[in-house]
Amino acid sequence: MNRACAPGKIILFGEHAVVYGRPALAVPVMQVQAEVEVLDSDLSGVWIEAPAVDLHAELSTLPPTLPIASVIRSVFQHLNISRFPPLIVRVNSSIPVASGLGSGAAVSVALIRALSAALGHPLPDEKVNALAYEAEKLYHGTPSGIDNTVITYARPVYFVKNQPIETFRVKEPFTLVIGDTGISASTKESVGAVRKLWEANPPYWEKVFDEIGRIVQQARQAVELGEVQLLGALMDANHAFLQEMGVSSPELERLVLAARSAGALGAKLSGSGRGGNMIALIRPDGQEQAAAALRTAGARNVIVTQVG
Ligand code: MEV
Repeated sequence: MNRACAPGKIILFGEHAVVYGRPALAVPVMQVQAEVEVLDSDLSGVWIEAPAVDLHAELSTLPPTLPIASVIRSVFQHLNISRFPPLIVRVNSSIPVASGLGSGAAVSVALIRALSAALGHPLPDEKVNALAYEAEKLYHGTPSGIDNTVITYARPVYFVKNQPIETFRVKEPFTLVIGDTGISASTKESVGAVRKLWEANPPYWEKVFDEIGRIVQQARQAVELGEVQLLGALMDANHAFLQEMGVSSPELERLVLAARSAGALGAKLSGSGRGGNMIALIRPDGQEQAAAALRTAGARNVIVTQVG
């Protein structure tokens, strides 16, 4: 049996603008994981069991566009295996689907690792990342690649599309509270809606994306210098641009405002928006207050995580 795990992720700064070539910062969230086991089987064919998405089926019966099926086929193809051995692929994940925590990318990464190891050819991170990116295109249309990258390497990344990844140093560890609206939102639709705005007025939105890019650079510097207070203000500024893009929602706004009222140094939506998660930067002694305020404001789930 071969087993592999991959963490969730959150975007600290720069979502959406990253699709247009600006930088973004993201970190892994180790509290949630996707886990894939690959076992030998007595039945012929490759059987997939993924209870979280209610899937129990043999590979050849699944459409090629289904991400899990496509990932399995791409691993076989990459390893030049045309006759598929009898296998059971079991997928379990504690990462909520369509919540901005990278559930699809985490399943892809764990699946590529477990399957390639089961076939006797464990793939290096670079290849895992490249194959997971292909699956992201099925989930999201025009992904920047940030989700699969931060999840594959499981460390903080400063990401620019089509450029070698850079990690960054966290001088003073800081605490984030992640609040889940409980509303699933499609990344594809949200990214598509921003694309429509951009198509209607490219010069205007290019300027907005430049501003966000500047926020990301300042945020990276603030993290590297341990200027936590400034980081909070930068989160608020980034959130204002995301509001302008129309990717916030009443539920996200409620959580962001509740976190700020409970003493957060800054708060913003995280990921593609229109539902999913928000993050708030808090002082270590303010964890309980912020988590309680988020629950009262409607958060379905709250995760406290330390960065650095
Ligand atoms: C999704 O986690 C982040 C977006 O910027 C899309 C992407 O980068 O592919 C909204």
